Amino acid sequence: MDQNQNSLKEMAGKAAVDDLVKSGMKLGLGTGSTAIHAVRRVGELIAQGKLTNITAFATSFQTEIECEKLNIPHFSLNSKQLADGLDLTIDGADEVDPQNRLIKGGGGAMLIEKLAAYASQAYAIIVDESKITNNLGLGFPVPVEVVPEARVQASKALEKLGANVIIREALRKAGPVITEHGNIILDIKFNMVIDPVLMEAELNKIPGVVENGFFTRIKPVVYIARTTGIDIRK
Ligand code: 5RP
Repeated sequence: MDQNQNSLKEMAGKAAVDDLVKSGMKLGLGTGSTAIHAVRRVGELIAQGKLTNITAFATSFQTEIECEKLNIPHFSLNSKQLADGLDLTIDGADEVDPQNRLIKGGGGAMLIEKLAAYASQAYAIIVDESKITNNLGLGFPVPVEVVPEARVQASKALEKLGANVIIREALRKAGPVITEHGNIILDIKFNMVIDPVLMEAELNKIPGVVENGFFTRIKPVVYIARTTGIDIRK
């Protein structure tokens, strides 16, 4: 990632936090190199005393560690503190289509990110302009989280749906990425335009699939950072 792209990610993160986050909110904090800028902005505003009484839910190990560094109080989604749900979740995305439907899970956290999105009153996505696409599923692979025992059968079922399937490999460890839930990730790509709404539902019908990276049923507000400024798409 070049410095320019990182500056755009930071711009999107700051804009969303400054517009949407208010004291007393219960926040879902997303995962990835864009979402981390939103987490840092929340931490900065808390440190400056401009945001108070924030309670957060971190969608991944990465985000949890950042919350710890920045003294952002964070709790489980099952905790008493968050039992009534979240006011707002801010997260990144890998692709966004013209209807604000998404592919997420480049960081492998889509299962918990989807839980946060569905537990939230409001949902904001922050991206740089490189994430905007006309059709989901042709460029960035769609991650499918699968229990390890389903690897072969689920791969065959995915191929029947027209997908090319690649097991996500770990870096600096031989073998697959193992998610926070002990599962593997099958990254799938399509050669043809697909209906992401139907595909999101179809993928989750395959036995052993826990969740997939299409986010089509919950419509976010999208903060797109362009070299010309921030574009807010509802
Ligand atoms: C992690 C995600 C991320 O939000 C998505 O991959 C975008 O990441 P980045 O901002 O680093 O490009 O869904 O599971």
